[in-house]
Formats: sequence, structure tokens, C-alpha cells
Amino acid sequence: MGQSKENKGEVVPAHIAIIMDGNGRWARQKRLPRIMGHYAGVKAVEKTVIAALELGVKHISLFAFSTENWKRPKGEIYGLFGLFRYFIRCKIKKLKEENIRLRFSGRIDFLPDNLKDLVKWAEGETKEGDRLDLVVCLNYGGRQEIIDAVNRILEASPKDNDKAKGINEEDFRDYLYLPDLPDPDLIIRTSGEKRLSNFWLWQSSYSELYFTDVLWPDFNEDELRKAIEEYKSRERRYGGI
Ligand code: IPE
Ligand code: IPE
Ligand code: MG
Repeated sequence: MGQSKENKGEVVPAHIAIIMDGNGRWARQKRLPRIMGHYAGVKAVEKTVIAALELGVKHISLFAFSTENWKRPKGEIYGLFGLFRYFIRCKIKKLKEENIRLRFSGRIDFLPDNLKDLVKWAEGETKEGDRLDLVVCLNYGGRQEIIDAVNRILEASPKDNDKAKGINEEDFRDYLYLPDLPDPDLIIRTSGEKRLSNFWLWQSSYSELYFTDVLWPDFNEDELRKAIEEYKSRERRYGGI
């Protein structure tokens, strides 16, 4: 889990998480409809994933739709869902060729059937990929993930006496959406906002945070390299000295 401080200055973060923000503002600046900003955001995803592969990152997680994003107008929500379907259908071949495993985190069961079915299919299709985990956080909320974990523990308790007595951190992790995914070493947020917006709440306890004013559609390999350089200069102490 994470890199130790001895790695300072050398090691590329194993897991980079990105809050891809600013698509709407990018579109507004260009006097385009917001959905065009989201389309441009998909291009930035492609560039970033290719760069991450080349840099030797093992896991990349992308916040694509939060549990709070249901507050947006229906047209934008369903435009985004259409874009996610397009992304999965068009990219699956390339992902398989590159040995990338596509995974999803979030309340997938609450998504429309045509998206949910595609998500399950894509996970099956790419499950052998072992070069990079590409985790798309879809209908994801950090608080909801914790609540879902607690509810699953409560359901298991009567059958499982050990759990009823109380659980530790590692047991708790088993109930998260992707228990085997290591915590993010670095969390990047674009567009100048400086908050987590309910992303990876359990997993971010010791993540390094990096904020940039660049809007997500303008993010690219150079921006990723800058974030990694900044990460490498940080000393991760994990509460030690
Ligand atoms: C991020 O861009 C994409 C999603 C949240 C789906 P925004 O749509 O939040 O863009 P801004 O923040 O309005 O510029
Ligand atoms: C966070 O962006 C969620 C995603 C990137 C999917 P938002 O644009 O929804 O966050 P807030 O509303 O500015 O906090
Ligand atoms: Mg936003």
C-alpha cells in the first residue's frame, strides 16, 4: 500500500487517481454546449492513460460520475451516460490489445440497464489485463461506499460470529467496492477546485494531493509528468518522523 519515504525522488506513484473537473467551463470558454466539454474530456482520458502506461503507473482511477452528479439536468446526465457507452464500445479492443483491465467502482446497479450491462461485459472482456488497471468511478460516492460496506457487514454478522464481535481496518477493506485496489498514492484534481467532492474517502487518508488550474480537456502527458514530478518531491511520513 503506497510508497515508503525511502522511495522519495525515485518512484512513480503506483496508483494515480484523478478528479477530472472543468469540462463545463472549458466548453463555456469556447461557447460550446457543456456536452462538448465532456467529449473533449474523453480525448484527455485517452492521452492520460497512454502516458500512464508509458510511465509505468499500475493503477489509474478516474472520477467520471459522482452520486451527487444526479443533481444535474437530465439532458446532461443522459448525455454523459451515452458518452460512457461510446467510450466502452469504442475502446474495448484497444484496451485488450494493451493488456489494460477496465474496472468500475460505484453503485453500478443503480445505472440504466444499457450502461450497467455494458459495464459488466467490459469487465469480463478485459479481466485478464495485467499491465494497468483502469478504474472508472461511476455513480461513485465515498460516503456511499462506506455505508454500503457497513450494510454488507451487518448482513453478514448473524452468520459470521467473528464479524459480530467487531472488525479491524483490514477486515473493513474487504467490504469496499474494490478491496484489492491499493490506495491512491497521488490524487490529482484539475480546474482549480480544491476539494475531494466525495471521492475515495476511505482510501485517500494518506494520498498526496495535487491541484492544477488546467481544465480537464486540456490535461495531457506533460501535465501528468508535472504532477508526478511534484509527487516525487514530497516526503511521505505516514505519521512517523
Ligand atoms: C467534470 O466536469 C465532469 C463531471 C463531473 C462529469 P464538470 O462538468 O464538473 O465541469 P465544470 O466543473 O462545470 O466546469
Ligand atoms: C467531481 O466534480 C465529480 C467528478 C469529477 C465526476 P464536480 O464538478 O461534480 O464537483 P463539485 O460539485 O464542484 O464539488
Ligand atoms: Mg465540476
